[in-house]
Amino acid sequence: MLELGVNVDHVATVREARKAPWPSPLEAALVCEDAGAWGITAHLREDRRHVNDADLAALAANVNRLNMEMAATDEMVGIACTLKPNSCCLVPEKRQELTTEGGLDVSSSLDRLKDVVGELRGAGIVVSLFIDPDKEQLDAAGESGAEYVELHTGAYANATGEAATSELERLVKAAEHAHGVGLNVNAGHGIDYDNITGILKIPHMRELNIGHSIVARSVMVGIRQAVSEMLDLMASYEG
Ligand code: PXP
Repeated sequence: MLELGVNVDHVATVREARKAPWPSPLEAALVCEDAGAWGITAHLREDRRHVNDADLAALAANVNRLNMEMAATDEMVGIACTLKPNSCCLVPEKRQELTTEGGLDVSSSLDRLKDVVGELRGAGIVVSLFIDPDKEQLDAAGESGAEYVELHTGAYANATGEAATSELERLVKAAEHAHGVGLNVNAGHGIDYDNITGILKIPHMRELNIGHSIVARSVMVGIRQAVSEMLDLMASYEG
C-alpha cells in the first residue's frame, strides 16, 4: 500500500505570516493522522522560517510517525538525535531558496553523508536521502548506508507536454534502479491532485510526501477533507 506523509511546514508558514500563535502545525498534524495520513513530515530549516524547534518537539512527542526533513549539518543531527523522529530525510538547503530546489549531491559528499547516516541510524532513526532521479546519485545513495531514497518529483511536477513525459520516464527508471540496488523508494515535491496521476505510474514506491497542495486545498475544504481526497487518489496505486 502506498502511504501518505503530510508535510505541515506551510501550516507554520501561515502562522509566521502574522507571527500569531495559530494555526498550529501539531493540531493540523493530528487531524491529518485522523484522516488517514500514515506519517507527518516537517522541515526544520536553519533559518526557522516556518517550523521552529518547539513545533518539531511537539510533533515528535505527539504524532504516530514523524519524518524530519533536515540539512546534514551538525546542528540538525544533534536535534534529530535528541528528538528521535522515526525517520530523517536529508535534503540540501540554501538560505535564499523558496523551497528545496534540487536533490542532494550524494556522490560528491559521500564521506560526510556516510557519517551523518551512521550517526542517525545509530540513534535508531530510519534515514532517507532526497535525490534527483539520477543513476549516479542513486548508486552513491546505495553506498551511503541509507535505507531509503526520496525521489525528487519537482522537475516532473513543473513540466508540461513532452517534457513531463520524459521527466516521468526518468522517475520510473530511477525507481527501478533504486529498487534494484536494494533501496526503498519514496517520492515527493510538487505533487498535487492532478499530477498524481502520473506519479502513480512510478513503481516500487512506499510513501509520498506531500505538503503545499494539501495545505492549499485545505483553505478551501479543510485539512481533513484535503487529506482524504489525496488518499482516495492514491488508493489505485498498484506498485
Ligand atoms: N519532500 C521533500 C524532501 C521536500 O523538501 C518537500 C518540500 O518541503 C516535500 C517533499 C513536499 O513538497 P511540496 O510542499 O511541494 O508537496
